[in-house]
Amino acid sequence: MVTEKQVLEALSKVKDPELRRDVVELGMIHDVEIEEGRVSFTLALTTMACPFKERMVENARLAVGALPGVNQVEVNLRAMTPEERKKIVGDQTEGVAAALNDVKHIIAVMSGKGGVGKSLVAGLLAVALRREGYEVGVLDADITGPSIPRLFFSDPPQPQGGPMGLVPVDSSTGIRVMSINLLLPREDEAVIWRGPLISRAIQQFWGDVIWGELDALVVDLPPGTSDASLTVMQSIPLDGVVMVTSPQGLAGMVVRKAARMAQQMKVPLLGLVENMSYVTCPGAEEPFELFGPSHAHEIASLVGVPFLGRLPIDPRIATMCDVGQIEDYPAKEFEPIAREVARTIGLTKVPA
Ligand SMILES: Nc1ncnc2c1ncn2[C@@H]1O[C@H](COP(=O)(O)OP(=O)(O)O)[C@@H](O)[C@H]1O
Ligand SMILES: [Mg+2]
Repeated sequence: MVTEKQVLEALSKVKDPELRRDVVELGMIHDVEIEEGRVSFTLALTTMACPFKERMVENARLAVGALPGVNQVEVNLRAMTPEERKKIVGDQTEGVAAALNDVKHIIAVMSGKGGVGKSLVAGLLAVALRREGYEVGVLDADITGPSIPRLFFSDPPQPQGGPMGLVPVDSSTGIRVMSINLLLPREDEAVIWRGPLISRAIQQFWGDVIWGELDALVVDLPPGTSDASLTVMQSIPLDGVVMVTSPQGLAGMVVRKAARMAQQMKVPLLGLVENMSYVTCPGAEEPFELFGPSHAHEIASLVGVPFLGRLPIDPRIATMCDVGQIEDYPAKEFEPIAREVARTIGLTKVPA
């Protein structure tokens, strides 16, 4: 006959889709009873209004039903008592999600000005780490110019909200994405907010989003040294910042400003990437430096940050990354950059 231990073991494979933890670990399973081939137990939900209720019951039923000798499974539902809930989330009423999250490393991507490819670099970094097998999320902190969903989705799904917080949406390779654009009724809806409201939104993306267990969270900052960047640096425990620049004039000066901000906030600078550095024309041997010779090395050493590498202008970026296919973009020039960033922050665990 099947034992209670076996039942619990089977149920420990069932995850709460919102909290991304298993139902046994969350203390959701009670009153396991076994009578011959009949198993019954109670599943205590965070709230009976849980949008994932049916899915969880079905998964629990399947998991237990698959045990040898079990021919009937009865799942009773109830809501957790306030004490049970407190055990998982503590006393907080705000930032409940943050208490459940386990985000190991956080990298922000910053630039002095807009249009240099900061969001692209944030996206490529997430993709590269995901390809290495890490659990990765992207937080789009560019509230007024959000462009992360475009990189990952042609038709973005809406994030689900549960009692514990907002659940990010999964890209096709399983990168968890949260952006204000996913929450707007229309993608082209403008967010016309003053600083404090923007800061609040960013804090919520950190405190009220159920990121779950992540090896790395990539934060796409808005350009420059605005309020929003300050909020990120103050309220999110960053491992460090990757700076993005382009070879155009003034790039050096704006990089220095942004770097100084990070230094003042005591956030480590992980390195500098120069985007749109050159073009490789079909048939030509030599790369063509459209904006003149690169000064990225110089700028990096002036600012005192490691130089991570250069990315070419590539028309495939426009054709793929603007239609949600960044995960299919090969990005071979980016691989060593991502590897160096991972090494610097100590992201070395062998992923499962
Ligand atoms: N290396 C590149 N080659 C071709 N197009 C690029 C490259 N980098 C960025 N772009 C394009 O330039 C635009 C601005 O890039 P984006 O990453 O949104 O900049 P930022 O976030 O710094 O404002 C996007 O349309 C993007 O697809
Ligand atoms: Mg951007």
